[in-house]
Amino acid sequence: MFSDLDLYFFSRVLHIIAVVFWIGGVAFVTCVLIPALKDFSHTQDKMVLFETLEGKFAKQAKISTITAGVSGFYMLYFLQAWSRYSMIEYWWLHLMTLVWAVFSVVLFVFEPLFLHRWFLQSAQRDCDKAFKRLHIMHIFLLTISIIAIAGALLGSHGYL
Ligand code: HEM
Repeated sequence: MFSDLDLYFFSRVLHIIAVVFWIGGVAFVTCVLIPALKDFSHTQDKMVLFETLEGKFAKQAKISTITAGVSGFYMLYFLQAWSRYSMIEYWWLHLMTLVWAVFSVVLFVFEPLFLHRWFLQSAQRDCDKAFKRLHIMHIFLLTISIIAIAGALLGSHGYL
């Protein structure tokens, strides 16, 4: 019913929708949620609000990460473009895959194993410091994601 070409274009659409939900959410957490929470003086309220909102976003991020990964690898399979991983001019593909791998490890391995508990403990010791560290980490992840998006858009349309 559907040709491989249909599936390829469907994957492309799905890939971008997943990236919008995922990196858009990371941008919201980095640029709006954490700065707003930093202004909160009541530690308990701050933690409850952060846990509630970040908890909801974690589900969205997990689904988006899986969707972006499956659609991305399907596109590589369709294009038979695995050799791009050995070419420096496709640095944006390396960066996209790196961003995906970092988020996957954080969301599916580090967070359930120790990251969540470690953040709660450090916030109980020094809440401002914990939020500052969290903010720096999010700024870093958002920056490399934006560079990957810009590189992928320019690279896949032949500009680079
Ligand atoms: C396993 C991880 C990923 C793989 C294998 C992958 C693979 C791909 C492939 C094969 C393309 C099409 C390239 C072409 O047409 O020449 C693409 C496009 C794109 N990807 Fe990824 N990707 C991954 C993760 C990501 C991530 C994490 C982001 C965002 C941070 C992202 C953003 C984009 C964007 C913006 C495009 C350009 C679409 C367009 O202009 O039509 N990808 N990806």
